[in-house]
Amino acid sequence: MSHAAQEASGTESAEAAPYSRITVRRMCGALGAELGGVDLSKPVDDATVAEIRRAFLENYVIVFRDQDLAPDRLIAFTEMFGPVEQHPYYRTGQIEGFPEVLVLEHKAGQFFNGKNDVWHSDITFGEKPPLGSVLHCRACWEGFADTMFANQYMAYERLSEPMKRFLDGLTAEHSAAYVQRKNNARANNKPITEIAPPVFHPVIRTHPETGRKSLYVNMPSVARICELEEEESKSVLAFLYEHAVQPALVYRHRWRVGDVVMFDNRCLMHYVVPDHPHDMHRLMHRTTAAGDKPY
Ligand code: OGA
Ligand code: MN
Repeated sequence: MSHAAQEASGTESAEAAPYSRITVRRMCGALGAELGGVDLSKPVDDATVAEIRRAFLENYVIVFRDQDLAPDRLIAFTEMFGPVEQHPYYRTGQIEGFPEVLVLEHKAGQFFNGKNDVWHSDITFGEKPPLGSVLHCRACWEGFADTMFANQYMAYERLSEPMKRFLDGLTAEHSAAYVQRKNNARANNKPITEIAPPVFHPVIRTHPETGRKSLYVNMPSVARICELEEEESKSVLAFLYEHAVQPALVYRHRWRVGDVVMFDNRCLMHYVVPDHPHDMHRLMHRTTAAGDKPY
């Protein structure tokens, strides 16, 4: 890693300017930090919000333990990062009065719904994909159905210079067709009847807050790389999907009830490990902060 990349990754800046309102404990080399000293069920003062936002930009995944947030407090937390928006398509299992909270539930005895056991970043088929999502764990069995996150800044930085030059300037077509198909395959989901036309995003995007470049393709949403022939596009994407999730880029989050995890959807992909027993109950409340058009 270059010196500049090292600085931007937060390792050094965290040492240079210590946090005073919160504690920050790194999870692993690739990404992730556990933040302490904050109770998100109460209003949080501006200086603390500033440190939380800084920890988010430096670590991409931030974890708060032992929280118990009603939907309005989960929304208030998410608003530290940007305006909260509803999922464009999913309408299954909503909380009365809080359409912004998406309820992800696998009831005991219900087979894993299999929506998220594929590496992806959220809603990249939108013109302005989310800045990030928050998951609040309300029920789980610790050690099952972990969520993995892969650092896409590092995925870009680990490419050779000629490969970076080749990918820079290419465009990918993103569509919600896969999400629609997966959703509608399950009888107890509200069917998605209509999806928006595809959108086009750069294959290498620049993070609007850090200025760093990251790889920005994901299997469920990307239909093709527009400038390439079909077979070329397939091969290049297959290589990138494998490259993007190599073990050194990954943090695996082991859920506990009460966890609040915020992740940066602009520079990460994530994946839910489908390894839990049939009779486990897993319940997540998810909110999403609005993002910008990728460039
Ligand atoms: C999602 C998602 C992760 C999880 O909501 O987009 O990928 O751990 N969920 O449930
Ligand atoms: Mn997701």
